[in-house]
Amino acid sequence: MPGNPAVPIAGNRFCIVGGASLVGSATAAELLDHGAAEVVLFDNFAFGSDAAIAHLRDHPRLRLVRGDVMRMADLLRATEGMAGVLQLAAYMTLSMDRDPWSGLDVNIRGVQNALEACRASKVAKVVFASSNATYGYGPGVAGELVESTPFHSQGAPPAAILYGATKIIGEQLCRDAHRKWGQDYVVLRYSTVYGERQHYRAANALYIIETLEKVRRGESPEVFGDGSETKHFVYVGDLARANRMAFESAATDVAVNTSGPAPMTTLQLVEMVTELAGGGPAPRFVGNAPGKVRLTSGGAFRIAHEAAFAAIGWKPEVDMKEGLRRLIAWRDSNEGKAA
Ligand SMILES: NC(=O)c1ccc[n+]([C@@H]2O[C@H](COP(=O)([O-])OP(=O)(O)OC[C@H]3O[C@@H](n4cnc5c(N)ncnc54)[C@H](O)[C@@H]3O)[C@@H](O)[C@H]2O)c1
Repeated sequence: MPGNPAVPIAGNRFCIVGGASLVGSATAAELLDHGAAEVVLFDNFAFGSDAAIAHLRDHPRLRLVRGDVMRMADLLRATEGMAGVLQLAAYMTLSMDRDPWSGLDVNIRGVQNALEACRASKVAKVVFASSNATYGYGPGVAGELVESTPFHSQGAPPAAILYGATKIIGEQLCRDAHRKWGQDYVVLRYSTVYGERQHYRAANALYIIETLEKVRRGESPEVFGDGSETKHFVYVGDLARANRMAFESAATDVAVNTSGPAPMTTLQLVEMVTELAGGGPAPRFVGNAPGKVRLTSGGAFRIAHEAAFAAIGWKPEVDMKEGLRRLIAWRDSNEGKAA
């Protein structure tokens, strides 16, 4: 039953599975701003919070549905009448480290359940939140990471590899749905997300928050290794736009990277956060932190996002300095303090 893969936002209904989240709350606002008839946030609040969606709660076109991706009946109810579904519900590396069984369930069976519900509800398009974790971690991840870069597992923490592997499986479940029943979909491989309503669940973004908190307490921020390690973030508002554009575009059956304008080193990151926080002591070089799940690569890398422009017309707009400024302003606001 393949139809037109382009799903306009205005007048259509969308369900965000795992919606009470960092990316979900920003995307809901983006879809509502572009005239969505309704946005349903579906979440079991395993990690999501009321605080993450407090700014949207009273929106007349937003509906919150408590439900679990492990329960088909919940998904069938939530996806009824939806033109598009954004599948976000997942355990990331730190949560996967604590509870791999539940993480594997949600990230694999949960995705398959969501796809089956979309089939039953005749949802026109699915956008699936994948990750640059599909390239793996550890020595061997270096250079330009493009969509055909293979998965690298050696030397990385098991939880990070389990997480990346589940995202690879999730992508393949989307492809399988396309092949078997013509489900239109776009996979976006997000790089590490940061911005307003930042949570403590993502190892790399946590580093931003920890640095900020140390600087604010007047302590030296910590730099692991020699500070030359690469990080490539993406601002949450840019991702919300990417999710919207993935629905609107005619693209289908494709997986593309969505990363920020440019990578940076951990030392540059710490210096930028310190400066934006109003200054503070010089960083302390701490070598490797034993016992911490850290996501490291072997060399300098850049996550290429040019294929996203070709597929859905998207490119990142907010650079690190501006995005960090917005994150810090949010943390200093009443909403950020209450979160
Ligand atoms: N945050 C990042 O840096 C990052 C980077 C790359 C990819 N991603 C992916 O993007 C997506 C969104 O990321 P985020 O940071 O907004 O995540 P998040 O942790 O804020 O959101 C995930 C949501 O899924 C919900 N959830 C978990 N189990 C569920 C279940 N059984 N049923 C229903 N809901 C359930 C959680 O309560 C939470 O609200 C995830 O799929 C993640 O893997 C995130």
